[in-house]
Amino acid sequence: MLHDKCIIHIVAALAIAALAGCQPDTPIESYPCPTNGTSLTYASFGQDFMARHCQTCHGQSTKDRKGAPASFDFATPEAIQQHKARIFARAAADNVTMPPGPDDPPEAERMKLAEWLACGAP
Ligand code: HEC
Repeated sequence: MLHDKCIIHIVAALAIAALAGCQPDTPIESYPCPTNGTSLTYASFGQDFMARHCQTCHGQSTKDRKGAPASFDFATPEAIQQHKARIFARAAADNVTMPPGPDDPPEAERMKLAEWLACGAP
């Protein structure tokens, strides 16, 4: 049996985890592509966004990946399309766990990323 004191500690730890942002990610399915589609493309938005905010750690030629997994490299439109659900879940709309900081993209750019990914990252 657990002591009451232990139970209080467990409840406190869970509360701290919730406050620290352990809420679930917003999935790509919850953000539909606008009916008129998107004017955003890899050339006009995606390539530059990923280069500035992600490829500093996720790039293939990056020397110091800072722990970014080798299989997550977003250098081509195909790679981004393949990983679009995870990219969305970490960085688009109200998902802010990537990049790990401190240079976060502005909210307007996260909303653009959401639209572009939801439309299939054309
Ligand atoms: C400062 C380095 C750094 C930057 C910049 C960065 N990442 Fe990461 N990324 C990591 C590390 C470290 C991990 C492994 C730990 C983790 O998953 O949190 C990771 C893992 C990931 C994963 C794989 C895990 C999963 O949740 O599926 C995805 C997807 C990802 N990052 C997306 C992005 C996107 C999108 C950007 C740009 C908006 C970005 N990252 C920018 C360091 C970085």
